[in-house]
Amino acid sequence: MSEDALKDLLAFVEDELAFATSHYNDSYLDRRVSSRMRRTRSETYGEYFELLRGDPDEQTALLEAMSINVTGFFRNPDVWAGIRTVLRNVAGSNDEIRIWSAPCADGREPYSLSMLVRDDPEIDASSVRILGTDISEPALETARRGVYTESRTVDVREQLEFLDEYDRYVDVGDDSTYRIREETKRNVTFERHDLINDDAKSGFDLIVCRNLFIYIDNEYKQPMLETIARSLRPNGYLVIGKAETIPPNLNSAFAVRDARLRIYQREPTPDSSAGRADPDASR
Ligand SMILES: C[S@@+](CC[C@H](N)C(=O)[O-])C[C@H]1O[C@@H](n2cnc3c(N)ncnc32)[C@H](O)[C@@H]1O
Repeated sequence: MSEDALKDLLAFVEDELAFATSHYNDSYLDRRVSSRMRRTRSETYGEYFELLRGDPDEQTALLEAMSINVTGFFRNPDVWAGIRTVLRNVAGSNDEIRIWSAPCADGREPYSLSMLVRDDPEIDASSVRILGTDISEPALETARRGVYTESRTVDVREQLEFLDEYDRYVDVGDDSTYRIREETKRNVTFERHDLINDDAKSGFDLIVCRNLFIYIDNEYKQPMLETIARSLRPNGYLVIGKAETIPPNLNSAFAVRDARLRIYQREPTPDSSAGRADPDASR
């Protein structure tokens, strides 16, 4: 009975609020709905569904809770040391470097990339183009603004300290506001893109696709990774989240470059057998 009420609620979110709940795994959706139920003191799914149907503000709050927009500057710093090495490799062989941060949430990941290349004497930052995409328009609006504030739970300064002189790239206000400098924004653009339903792009040297697979139902990981593989140049690099894996049926598309940091490289030919893209298998 209560499972049916949750199903009805999710069908309402999909059909009426246009959020594709069927792409996400059930336990994730249940956790997000339950957290809104606690906030609204609803005892049952049915009671919460009634509230949701009649309250546009709660609809916005639930959509926001479901779109998993947790992010940070230089999230998992050890991975960023790996990304720096990848970018130095690419810089050594290319005149132009194209990077895609997908999904980019509110922009902290693509701006971290912009700061990283500006901070690296081995990379010519003027040759680097960074695209940030996400499915969420509100997240992209924040990203374009590039202004972030400290909160009780997020220590922005600590995140930025991955770079010794981060204040060359970000203006820090007295009120703990962090404003990305125009110069740091110059090579970063944002656009809306749905990794499951929209077309592939092309010619990227590096795609950073972190912390979305963990929420996505298995059947949608494959189309996402196919989109990514098609968007990379042969030998282009892919970085996924530290808790994520590439499904076995896509092993042959990517070779493992660093199993722990989840860094892969697109195979020049689809059936090349060098390195299997299951990081756990190579431990
Ligand atoms: C947890 S954030 C990850 C942000 C960043 N990559 C990081 O690791 O910090 C996940 C983002 O995925 C976005 N998202 C959810 N479904 C998506 C889809 N089908 N296509 C593109 N982005 C999606 C959400 O809006 C959210 O901003």
